[in-house]
Amino acid sequence: MRKNIVAGNWKMNNDLSQTEALITDLKRESKTSNAEVMIAPTYTNLWQAYQTLKDNTIEVIAQNMHFAENGAYTGEVSAAMLKSIGIKTVILGHSERRAYYNETDESLAKKVNAALVNDMRVIFCFGEELKDRKAEKQDAVVESQIKNALFHLEAKAFNKIVLAYEPVWAIGTGETATPEQAQDMHAFIRKTLSEKYGSEVADSVSILYGGSVKPANAKEIFSKPDVDGGLIGGASLNAEDFFAIVSAF
Ligand code: 13P
Repeated sequence: MRKNIVAGNWKMNNDLSQTEALITDLKRESKTSNAEVMIAPTYTNLWQAYQTLKDNTIEVIAQNMHFAENGAYTGEVSAAMLKSIGIKTVILGHSERRAYYNETDESLAKKVNAALVNDMRVIFCFGEELKDRKAEKQDAVVESQIKNALFHLEAKAFNKIVLAYEPVWAIGTGETATPEQAQDMHAFIRKTLSEKYGSEVADSVSILYGGSVKPANAKEIFSKPDVDGGLIGGASLNAEDFFAIVSAF
């Protein structure tokens, strides 16, 4: 059965002391829940966060990585480097990476491969822009993002893949997809997976929703049958809000 997951994407927020303070708050707020809980601090604080949470159920994950194992890629970090400090899961394909750092389906396919070769779990993000939704092209956009970056994989690779539907127009805008919009898209994603890999694989993959999830709307969104959790930006920077969202499960 697929897992419920709530992951906090801290983006480029929190220096070392702020990271330590937020983790202290998270430990205090932490409650037992039916969801796996993850946080993604920035690179410079991953080691510290990992050490601090080693014996906790909160998993520390990375926001990005390069596809090469090592080499002349100034400023980049590889899967092997992440693994060497205990990180087992990486977010790939976030719309901010696609928009500001020219990440493409092709480069993301390589990153996915590198993560899997290193036995890492991937939270693979995708989602349409506002202009796509206005033109009712959201299904076609999402389908091509998934197919181009993931459909070269064998079925068994999907036990290491979590999908995160994040409509760009809902990220950091306060404008959330309605629970019905999220459910419609998640059902479409599962159907797309099922057509290629069969229903057993499609039913086993967790599909998270991301985009202005808050304590006030999490329960309704997570109650939808094909929504298996959330990727949380702004609200993950406050421990009380974050665990209020986790508790929606
Ligand atoms: P917000 O929750 O701030 O809208 O961000 C969502 C997101 O981008 C998570 O990856």
